[in-house]
Amino acid sequence: MFRRILIGLIAALVVGLAAFAALAWRPEIAPIAPPAASAFAPELVARGEALAGAGYCATCHTTKGGKPYAGGYAMQTGFGIIYSTNITPDPKTGIGAWSEEAFRRAMQEGVTRSGSHLFPAFPYDHFTKLSDADVSALYAYLMTRAPVEAAPRANTIPFPLNIRPLQAGWKLLFFRSGRFEALPDRGPEWNRGAYLAEGISHCGACHTPRNLLGAEERSQAYAGALIDNWLAPPLTKANPSPAPWSQEELFAYLRKGVSRLHGTSAGAMSPVVHDGLAKLPDADLHALAVYFADVDDAEARAGEAAPAIQWALAANRRGVGEPYDATSRFYTAACASCHYNGGDGLNPLRPDLALNSAANLHDPTNLIRVILFGIGAKEGAPGVVMPGFAQGFSDADVARIAAYLRATRTRRPPWPDLEQKVAAIRAVRQPD
Ligand code: HEC
Ligand code: HEC
Ligand code: HEC
Repeated sequence: MFRRILIGLIAALVVGLAAFAALAWRPEIAPIAPPAASAFAPELVARGEALAGAGYCATCHTTKGGKPYAGGYAMQTGFGIIYSTNITPDPKTGIGAWSEEAFRRAMQEGVTRSGSHLFPAFPYDHFTKLSDADVSALYAYLMTRAPVEAAPRANTIPFPLNIRPLQAGWKLLFFRSGRFEALPDRGPEWNRGAYLAEGISHCGACHTPRNLLGAEERSQAYAGALIDNWLAPPLTKANPSPAPWSQEELFAYLRKGVSRLHGTSAGAMSPVVHDGLAKLPDADLHALAVYFADVDDAEARAGEAAPAIQWALAANRRGVGEPYDATSRFYTAACASCHYNGGDGLNPLRPDLALNSAANLHDPTNLIRVILFGIGAKEGAPGVVMPGFAQGFSDADVARIAAYLRATRTRRPPWPDLEQKVAAIRAVRQPD
């Protein structure tokens, strides 16, 4: 009896393992000799260059001071560090021996040329939406870059999570392979914006919260998420900015990194704008703006902008001509010399703190980061700098200003535990 049960169990295990192996197995695609650069039409290479920009390939596949696309960039994930790979056409350490078919499979299915599964730190869950023509253009662009010999670095993902065949299980649960399908009841601009946002520019990779296994929560698309110690705000109507993100505001922000009613693209959003979307023509950024103005329901909220501006300007004048209390004096001395908007004017180079999302978000992370570490000349609006106060201010000083802005520049409840939060953010600053 016992032997029969044991045999039954072993048989079930073997069948299970065989089924999983069959599910996980992908064939190797034969290596090729690297194609000559002249094999690709210059127009195709130029299209690929714009797409590589829009997909931030260089941001993730280049280390600081390293050669473009040679890999080795460290991505901190909840499970350990994953290093990006060398995607130059070097045949030994890069993708020089990859046929277009092998490259297409990597982009659309997350599988390497040799047949192993890639981790979703590489956003193939978005790139799967790319059209075959766009993948061909990306291939043409990468295969015409200078080959760089640079061996990949070993990841620090612990056993058993580092077993690549197990990624087949992740894919079964969370990955849907398939090209973008346009919605027939939407216009061409909306569909173009959706294609860019959900595919190559993978806005959801930062703006959509992830589950415990690191997959985006589909039901919470663009609901906002913490990424690299920044909060990527919601891009839905849950965005707390008092003035709605209209098409015009979105276009200005995505094109120049700054909008009059909302402030600037700092932190992880800075390379998105300045290195990534900068490569796309105005028409594409307009399409993105059309799409996200729909995602956040801007038209229905259009009436909220004018009262929000009036309220913000009144908040700026608060205290003028009255005896200042100690905290408002402290704020005025530290911040108001730059962050003052008078009359009817809103200066986009001096974000209005009542309209900016930093003071309005449910979490103070972005405001604290900006006060501690400032905004560099290359972030946000190019050429202007916001100084960091980490040297001069104690945690209590920063907490005091954050609490003051929350109380006087928003109509939202106070943030709890501000001082601890400042200490935590000060401690985990990533090296630039
Ligand atoms: C958010 C960061 C990120 C972005 C953006 C990104 N990649 Fe990657 N990519 C990675 C990481 C990390 C890996 C390695 C994953 C692994 O080891 O499983 C990778 C792997 C790859 C591979 C497999 C290469 C190999 O040797 O196995 C290819 C091909 C690739 N990326 C191409 C691209 C292209 C083309 C773009 C731009 C359209 C791009 N990547 C954008 C992070 C990124
Ligand atoms: C690498 C992560 C990342 C990606 C990819 C990304 N974002 Fe962001 N985004 C952020 C972060 C972080 C912020 C907060 C920046 C700040 O407060 O200065 C932000 C801010 C924004 C804001 C301003 C929101 C507000 O209320 O202040 C908008 C709008 C936005 N992103 C749109 C987009 C769009 C559209 C895309 C895709 C084309 C995109 N983002 C891709 C990380 C990202
Ligand atoms: C010397 C001038 C100056 C001072 C002083 C200053 N700021 Fe700024 N601040 C700026 C500029 C300029 C920007 C826009 C930066 C950009 O676009 O690159 C900015 C941006 C910001 C933003 C917007 C961040 C975003 O992502 O949209 C916040 C919030 C902010 N400052 C808060 C403060 C607070 C709080 C203080 C006082 C502790 C302060 N600033 C002091 C010049 C200043």
